Amino acid sequence: MGERLLELSDVSVVFGRRRGASAIRAVDRVSLDVGAGEIVGLVGESGSGKSTLARLIVGINELAEGEMRFDGMPLPVSGRSAQLRRRIQMVFQDPFSSLNPRMSVYQHLAELLRVHELVPRHQLRPHCEELLEMVHLPVGLLDARPRSMSGGQRQRFAIARALALEPDLLVADEACSALDVSVQAGIIALFAELRRELGLAILFIAHDLAVVRHVCDRLAVMYMGQIVERGTIESVFADPRHPYTRGLLQAIPRISVAPLSATSAMRGEPPSITRLPSGCRFRSRCPLAVELCEQQQPQLIGVNGDGDGDGDAGHLAACHFARTHDQLKL
Ligand SMILES: Nc1ncnc2c1ncn2[C@@H]1O[C@H](COP(=O)(O)OP(=O)(O)OP(=O)(O)O)[C@@H](O)[C@H]1O
Ligand code: SF4
Ligand SMILES: [Mg+2]
Repeated sequence: MGERLLELSDVSVVFGRRRGASAIRAVDRVSLDVGAGEIVGLVGESGSGKSTLARLIVGINELAEGEMRFDGMPLPVSGRSAQLRRRIQMVFQDPFSSLNPRMSVYQHLAELLRVHELVPRHQLRPHCEELLEMVHLPVGLLDARPRSMSGGQRQRFAIARALALEPDLLVADEACSALDVSVQAGIIALFAELRRELGLAILFIAHDLAVVRHVCDRLAVMYMGQIVERGTIESVFADPRHPYTRGLLQAIPRISVAPLSATSAMRGEPPSITRLPSGCRFRSRCPLAVELCEQQQPQLIGVNGDGDGDGDAGHLAACHFARTHDQLKL
């Protein structure tokens, strides 16, 4: 991993406080970093807080607690300089909603470049052609309208729009979830290529562990607003230590994960975020839950016995049994 580009320390996002409604801690004391040129996956079921975290990073959501740093400097939520806004770009699941159906691909890109004064006027067209080439779209699409493009092409165009601003970090929020598997594979390969060629760092958000496997260096698994496991892709896939990660991995065909017990399957649905269980918030679904899990909330710990996980390429899990799962496997 290169130098740390994005550093989040114990960040929380709370909704509903002002209106007197019961507060929702959609992101609850999350710590995560992304190195320069690194691809970090963020996975979890619907409602786990992935988009809320993404929107915090790009400055849409407010920070309730914690600290964010970018390239060694504090990262404010509001009042970011144009330069800072440019350096962190987001790609959404549905890029169509942010496009003007009356404007061509060229008009969209040229407007962005003009606003940010990145390219002299006479170089706008060739520069836009280069951007399309970068995402492997035919240059002939420059005069097309978004409506005439396929889902995969629109997503490539959305990536080109983000690249137009020459970011250092791309936050890709389910950028290929809505696409067919084969189209999805093409977009994933594109992300890998952009990292390789441009040194771009990417926070790659997905529902599905199978999707992140071949593109990410490291992985963080989120459950009900918190990170329950993180580590390198190799260590988390080879030796998942949180029962939730294990449950997600078991759901992927062709991956063999030893079951935790004879009745090991993860049970039921996540609880309501406004009525979280005491202690470990996964306990209502956990096949290993014991009394301790009800009484104490587990903290992220290094799975091999060192407190912060540094000695194990940072493999951490938030389970009371993260270091003893092997003994618990029946
Ligand atoms: N603006 C908001 N106001 C109130 N609650 C919100 C708001 N945005 C998100 N939430 C709540 O925060 C929680 C996390 O939502 P979020 O969209 O971040 O989840 P997600 O992991 O991105 O889910 P998905 O996989 O479905 O995209 C959910 O309970 C959601 O209802
Ligand atoms: S702390 Fe307990 S309930 Fe939570 S994941 Fe571990 S075993 Fe399951
Ligand atoms: Mg989301």
